[in-house]
Amino acid sequence: MASKPLRVIVLGATSGIAQATARLYAAEGADLLLVARDAAALGRLQSEMLALEAHRCELHTIDLTTASPAIELPRLAEQLGGADHIHIAYAIMPPQPVAAADLAIARAMMETNYTSTALWALAAANLLEAQGHGSLVVLGSVAGDRGRRKNFIYASTKAGIETLVEGIAHRFAGKEPRAVVVKPGPTATAMTANGPEGRKLASAEHVARIVRSAADRGGPVQYAPRRWWLIMQVVRNLPWWLFRRIDI
Ligand SMILES: NC(=O)c1ccc[n+]([C@@H]2O[C@H](COP(=O)([O-])OP(=O)(O)OC[C@H]3O[C@@H](n4cnc5c(N)ncnc54)[C@H](OP(=O)(O)O)[C@@H]3O)[C@@H](O)[C@H]2O)c1
Repeated sequence: MASKPLRVIVLGATSGIAQATARLYAAEGADLLLVARDAAALGRLQSEMLALEAHRCELHTIDLTTASPAIELPRLAEQLGGADHIHIAYAIMPPQPVAAADLAIARAMMETNYTSTALWALAAANLLEAQGHGSLVVLGSVAGDRGRRKNFIYASTKAGIETLVEGIAHRFAGKEPRAVVVKPGPTATAMTANGPEGRKLASAEHVARIVRSAADRGGPVQYAPRRWWLIMQVVRNLPWWLFRRIDI
């Protein structure tokens, strides 16, 4: 007998990494629920997912930062007929000088990348724990490992979300549900489109393959590409005075 399609909710489905991840699930014949705030982009993604042989592709248009996760997530799970994997992939990264000068922009970044993401993650943890199975995958960043002068506001939001998701993974220890924070290095998406030229970026597809396998294996932490684990071991252990000299 054929196994039942995996039911997957993707919060922030229009992100470059989330789109690449959704394509992998679609090719497996999953039931997808794509959640984002751009209805037109969601419509295009739905056609693409069905062409890739997703078993089903539902859409929900919502601003994830202003929505109430405790109310919305159970509704989303009901719309899909349950949730096996829940991905949280949205974030914003305005340039640091802009956020440092305009604290309303800093606040928007903190609310989007930490407060709202954390509340969706906690709602997902409650849902997975209540049903007794499933995976939560949240996108953090290598940036969260160290406070660089050029990007520390964004980095602090990613450090916070990593700690929260790691804690959820430990809360699940000995039970079936899993939680993992995947920490990409610089990746070719809209987020890095205005970055310095010539920078080496991972492809969204490469990162998505690691995200997909992390959903099956759990965490608590997974770097993507995997070599970033070793790089960040070194970076994290540099003494502050040396880090300050090389952090350009
Ligand atoms: N790209 C990288 O180099 C990199 C590296 C490390 C970690 N990450 C992390 O990986 C994740 C995905 O990044 P990405 O590069 O794939 O992102 P991306 O392509 O820049 O897309 C970000 C997405 O977040 C959505 N979003 C932002 N605020 C939202 C809100 N309030 N409600 C709904 N959607 C919202 C945006 O939707 P709209 O289009 O509607 O604005 C956009 O689709 C993020 O958590 C990011 O921090 C990325």
